[in-house]
Amino acid sequence: MPPSPDAMKGKVCLVTGATSGIGKATAMALAAQGATVVLGCRNREKGEAVKQEITRATGNSLLDLMVADLASIESTKKGAADFLARYPKLHVLVNQAGLYLNERVVTPEGLETIFVVNHLSYFLLTHLVLDALKAGAPSRIVNGSGGIEAAAKIDFDDLQGEKKFGPFKALAQSKLGNFLFTYELARRLEGTGVAINIMQPGGVKTELGKGQGGAFGFLMRMMRPLFSTPEQGADTLVWLASSPEVEGVTGKYFVKRKEAKSSARSHDKELAARLWKVSADLCGLKL
Ligand SMILES: NC(=O)c1ccc[n+]([C@@H]2O[C@H](COP(=O)([O-])OP(=O)(O)OC[C@H]3O[C@@H](n4cnc5c(N)ncnc54)[C@H](OP(=O)(O)O)[C@@H]3O)[C@@H](O)[C@H]2O)c1
Repeated sequence: MPPSPDAMKGKVCLVTGATSGIGKATAMALAAQGATVVLGCRNREKGEAVKQEITRATGNSLLDLMVADLASIESTKKGAADFLARYPKLHVLVNQAGLYLNERVVTPEGLETIFVVNHLSYFLLTHLVLDALKAGAPSRIVNGSGGIEAAAKIDFDDLQGEKKFGPFKALAQSKLGNFLFTYELARRLEGTGVAINIMQPGGVKTELGKGQGGAFGFLMRMMRPLFSTPEQGADTLVWLASSPEVEGVTGKYFVKRKEAKSSARSHDKELAARLWKVSADLCGLKL
C-alpha cells in the first residue's frame, strides 16, 4: 500500500543531490508524503526549477532550497549555516549527492573531487546538522552509496590521488568511506535517537557519469538499458527515510529494502577511526 499523503507531515527532510536522478526522485517521494523537503543543490536556478516541478507534481508547497557546492568545504559550511538558521530541527537527512569523474579534478580547497563530494561532504554536512537531527529525534540519516565498496581500500598514502589517480579506485574508495562513516557514526550515536543507515540502489538511469569517457563511462552506457528508473533506485532510500517499519533501526546496510552484508573491511573499526580523524582534520572540525 502506498504511504498516505500526510505520512511525513511536520517532518523536515534535507536531501542532497535533489536536482537529479536518485536524489530528485527521493525528494519527490518525500514531498508526496507531505514532508517539508529542503532540496540540496549547487545551482539555485536549477534548484528552483526542481522545486516548482515537485510542487506541481505533488501539490506540496512546503519546499525549500539549501544552496551549497558540496565540492567546497567552505560552501558546505555556509549552506548548512543558512539551513540551520531556518530549521533548528531536522528529522531526516538524505546524503545522495555524488558524481563520477574520469579525471582528477581539484576542489577549491585543493582536494580530489570524487573523494570530497562522495565521501567528505557526507561526513561534513552530517556533522554540521547533527545538533538539529538530535533536536528532531527520533530522526534518521540515510546515506546513498554504491555496491562497489568491497573492491576498495582506503589509500591513506595517496588519499587525494596526487601520486596516481584512478577514477574507479577513487569512486570505490569514496563508497567504502560511506560505509565506514555510517557504521562508525551509528556506534557514536547510540542512545541519541538519531538512526543512520546506508543503502545502494543498483544500476539506475541517471545523469551519473554522463559525458565521461573511459571504461566506466562505456560500461554505464552499455548497461543503461538494464538499469532501473530513478524512482525504483530511490525506493530503499525513501523507505529508510520514512517508513515506520524501520523506526529505530540503525547501523545497517540495505539493498532493495532487505538488510545486506557489506565487506569485512567496511566493518573495520580501526580503519573507520583513522578515516574519521583524517576527514575531521580536512574539514577543520574538532570532534
Ligand atoms: N546511477 C547509478 O546507477 C548509481 C548506482 C550506485 C550508486 N550511485 C551513486 O549515486 C550518486 C549519484 O546519483 P545519481 O545516480 O542520481 O546521479 P545524478 O543524476 O548525476 O545526480 C547527482 C546529484 O548530485 C549533485 N551533485 C554533484 N556534484 C555536486 C556538488 N559539487 N555539490 C552539490 N551537489 C552535487 C548533482 O547536482 P547537479 O544537478 O547540479 O548536477 C545531482 O543533483 C553517486 O554517488 C553514485 O555513485 C548511482
